[in-house]
Amino acid sequence: MQHGVLISGTSTGIGRACAARLAGQGVVVFAGVRRLEDGERLRDEVGDRIVPVLLDVTDPAQLANAIEDVVAANGQRALSGLVNNAGVALGGPLEFLPIDAVRAQFEANVLGTLALTQACLPLLRTGDGRIVNMSSISGRFASPLQGAYASSKFAVEALSDALRRELAPWGIRVAVVQPGRVATPIWHKSVSAAEALLADLPPEALELYGPPIERAKRRAHAHARAGIPAERVAAVVETALTARRPRTRYLVGRDARVGAALSAWLPDAMLDRLARLRSA
Ligand SMILES: NC(=O)c1ccc[n+]([C@@H]2O[C@H](COP(=O)([O-])OP(=O)(O)OC[C@H]3O[C@@H](n4cnc5c(N)ncnc54)[C@H](OP(=O)(O)O)[C@@H]3O)[C@@H](O)[C@H]2O)c1
Repeated sequence: MQHGVLISGTSTGIGRACAARLAGQGVVVFAGVRRLEDGERLRDEVGDRIVPVLLDVTDPAQLANAIEDVVAANGQRALSGLVNNAGVALGGPLEFLPIDAVRAQFEANVLGTLALTQACLPLLRTGDGRIVNMSSISGRFASPLQGAYASSKFAVEALSDALRRELAPWGIRVAVVQPGRVATPIWHKSVSAAEALLADLPPEALELYGPPIERAKRRAHAHARAGIPAERVAAVVETALTARRPRTRYLVGRDARVGAALSAWLPDAMLDRLARLRSA
């Protein structure tokens, strides 16, 4: 990874762990952050291999500036890797979620991934680079009250499949990482965002979905404590970036492997029953 790797969403969680791991191995990491102070803190903690880059993946001007920063810092138009990690998780019943909130979910997770990939491709092409897209087990199995998030991750899967096939002539590899539950701030952030949204929903939303929403919130807080460490995902991202023959998909965590096997083999009626039991 001689030319450096750009990672989006490195302020916390998996992106931060990826940045720290790769920088620790001597890789120059262009660390995408939405607040420069987050990048400066990361550089202070990890070292000078971290080059903070202001990058909200939904902001076209920031995308363009981020690429200019990479070119300026790298001294040549090349990147060895792009990790599309930035993401948000919107929970709540599809029947009532405001369409604008769902649109924002897709802007960050799907269109942000595509826009950053488009912006980086010229640098990846000259740098013999690879792309790693952060999906989720939710990109294989859509749980109730996670429909907006899951559909964004299903879209990331489709984007990744098509990109992998389109970019094969240039030898640009595209891998998808599918973690199960990881102990990161995303869970608490997701509950706070859902609570803010629910406050504005009509009363019948809570009459109809109140108890399952409360259970989902409790589960989210538990996952924030009991999920696997983000460093385990970072190790898999490194493998996807460096393996001589990278896989197209990497499941991370036992729950992800079990979930993937069940969703591949069980009929929908049984999966529906399992989903109901799990959310009861
Ligand atoms: N944690 C899990 O259990 C889990 C499981 C499967 C997949 N994932 C995926 O892993 C990725 C990282 O999530 P995480 O768990 O590490 O959560 P996290 O700690 O909340 O990190 C998310 C990162 O994305 C950034 N971000 C959000 N919206 C952005 C935008 N529009 N532009 C640029 N950056 C943006 C956040 O920046 P700010 O700090 O500025 O908000 C933060 O740095 C996500 O794609 C998530 O869907 C997580």
